[in-house]
Amino acid sequence: MAAAACVLAQIAPARADAPDAPSPEQIKKGSAAYAQNCSPCHGPRMLDPQGAFDLRMFPQDQKSRFVTSVSKGKNQMPPWGGLLNADDIDALWAYVTAGEK
Ligand code: HEC
Repeated sequence: MAAAACVLAQIAPARADAPDAPSPEQIKKGSAAYAQNCSPCHGPRMLDPQGAFDLRMFPQDQKSRFVTSVSKGKNQMPPWGGLLNADDIDALWAYVTAGEK
């Protein structure tokens, strides 16, 4: 039952009723930035991460960790801080947490 709920949560649309739910525009922007910069390693639409982190599993309550890892890099992952600004990284976070791939 718990596992089924988890799968449903991943394919369910964005939490539109949550007070801090990202706007569709922001998710779209994040999706485009993801496709351009992140999909080669993390897989198209986060579906095939191979050796890289499976972003569908990233803890949704750790935004600051996300921002730090993405801007400063982590081990095999290059830093993105020079290429993406805070708005871009916010949009990526919206995309990663939206559940809308
Ligand atoms: C060159 C391949 C590569 C690209 C491109 C890449 N990543 Fe990664 N990423 C990795 C690898 C490998 C890891 C696992 C790092 C580790 O924990 O050792 C990782 C880990 C992560 C993590 C988890 C960090 C943590 O705190 O555990 C996040 C979040 C992440 N990537 C986001 C992104 C985003 C967003 C982009 C696009 C802007 C991106 N990555 C592009 C290879 C990549």
